[in-house]
Amino acid sequence: MNGKQIVAEALQPVLPDWEMSDIEVKIERPKDEKLGDYAFPTFTLAKTLRKAPNLIASEMAEKIDPSKFEKVQAVGPYVNFFLNKSQVGAEILKEILSDPENYGARNIGQGRNVSTEYSSPNIAKPMGMGHLRSTMIGESIARILAKEGFKPIRIDYLGDWGTQFGKMMAAYKMWGDDAEIEKDPINTLLSYYVRINKEAADHPEYDDAGREWFAKLERGDEEAKRLWTWFREVSLERFKRVYKMLDVDFDSYTGEAFSATMMDEPVRILREKNLLVKSQGAEIVDLEKYNLPPLMVIKSNGTSTYITRDLATAMYRKKTYDFYKSIYVVGQEQEVYFQQLRACLKEMGFDWADDIVHISFGLMSINGQKMSTRKGNVVDLEDVLNQSVDLARKQIAEKNAGLANADEVAKQVGIGAVVFHDLKNYRRNPIDFNLEEVVKFEGETGPYVQYARARGESLLRKSGIKGFDDVDLTKIGEAEWDLVSFMGRYADVLQKALETYDPSAVAKFALELAKRFNKYYAHTRILVDDVDEDVKKARLAVVKAVSEVIKSALNLLDVKAPDEM
Ligand code: ARG
Repeated sequence: MNGKQIVAEALQPVLPDWEMSDIEVKIERPKDEKLGDYAFPTFTLAKTLRKAPNLIASEMAEKIDPSKFEKVQAVGPYVNFFLNKSQVGAEILKEILSDPENYGARNIGQGRNVSTEYSSPNIAKPMGMGHLRSTMIGESIARILAKEGFKPIRIDYLGDWGTQFGKMMAAYKMWGDDAEIEKDPINTLLSYYVRINKEAADHPEYDDAGREWFAKLERGDEEAKRLWTWFREVSLERFKRVYKMLDVDFDSYTGEAFSATMMDEPVRILREKNLLVKSQGAEIVDLEKYNLPPLMVIKSNGTSTYITRDLATAMYRKKTYDFYKSIYVVGQEQEVYFQQLRACLKEMGFDWADDIVHISFGLMSINGQKMSTRKGNVVDLEDVLNQSVDLARKQIAEKNAGLANADEVAKQVGIGAVVFHDLKNYRRNPIDFNLEEVVKFEGETGPYVQYARARGESLLRKSGIKGFDDVDLTKIGEAEWDLVSFMGRYADVLQKALETYDPSAVAKFALELAKRFNKYYAHTRILVDDVDEDVKKARLAVVKAVSEVIKSALNLLDVKAPDEM
């Protein structure tokens, strides 16, 4: 139970007609800590009771059971609450230490399925930093969902179908060099793709050839299929290497090609409901009543589109997973597209269309530069991760030369730094990536949070303390209370992160906790003789709790927490 809930519970008997949750939303935190830990404003009551707020406040303060508080006091129109810090703090600490893994979880999901699509790179292209955003935001949301009792189904919807593969094949047929492809498959295939796009300006026949090859693929032509399978395999192998570095794994890797085999059903429904309109040879769905541009479902040459596949995909996911929500972690540039997708599904008569959630995110630039696959201007994610690990290794060698498992820790710190950077800002904000900044041990970085926790763990090792079962947790003081009451907000933070699909709420919490802990650590002496033994133990219990909560938060962000670094 956190402080706010304790206050709400104390208010309940005086506000018999109110729901607990209504009381809780009204409770505020006074700007000035001297006015108490929480405050309840009486303005709303004044209207219904037709009494002066100040009078209501003082009457209420009289009636409240003071046992859980140091003081309950009316100040003007507010009832101010001063928590009994040692008692409440001890309760929070006990909750953390007795089951650190589940601390903060509220089982909101009750086992319901959430189809969770993220990453979804396109084959035959290197996975760029842009896909990192989708991968990490998606993985973190999946972890938050799982923590709150949902069952996320992790789906990597590979971009393995579409006219671009026609182009890739046409390019391969002109310039393909198998030996070169074997050596470095993705970059070689990408170079063909970049070249054909560039040269198509002077050679319009290249575009025709690309369309022809894609049509072949759709017809099931042997050679086209063989090339496609090969491109897909070498690509997925590379992607999985990156996923392994990031500790990300999917339940399904079925992509657009799989959906392309199921398009008859949505097209049949669209026809039955007379939703398809001919337009310049193509067939479109009019979405004017939603204030959205029309959707092209079938192109003039009869081939299917990205949207046709997504219609089939959405239906397949509903049928297969009977989802409570179906989320798609995809960049901001597809925002209108997902509105169209939802509107189209609604027109088709699916009431679950509203459960489709597009989790959009802002663009990532690198050192101020935009990225574009078409122009070949991509930064390879694997390279970036390796560079980051090298940078972390250097810093660790300086800080802690004798570290036993330095290599493993360098990986955890280097990769964690990149991931943390990606998640610490609200997802819809554009972000810039600068490796030097990201891997710093100071400032708002992943390594800063990891390091704060590692310092705590090192203190615990030095103390030799074995367990906390027999520690009197009420022996905490003001400085400890600051940390403990902050940790008491964890469940609220998680719930907010869940409701807004926003991992940055968790990242910001971890940063703030690390900051407060560093401040505490700098000002409070723990392993010294002149501290009372019981107080010392209670302080160590707080250190342990901070370490556990930081670890839990980092885990939700898919960032590792090394005990030593
Ligand atoms: N492969 C696409 C891309 O890289 C993202 C796929 C988004 N998901 C979807 N169901 N349309 O841009």
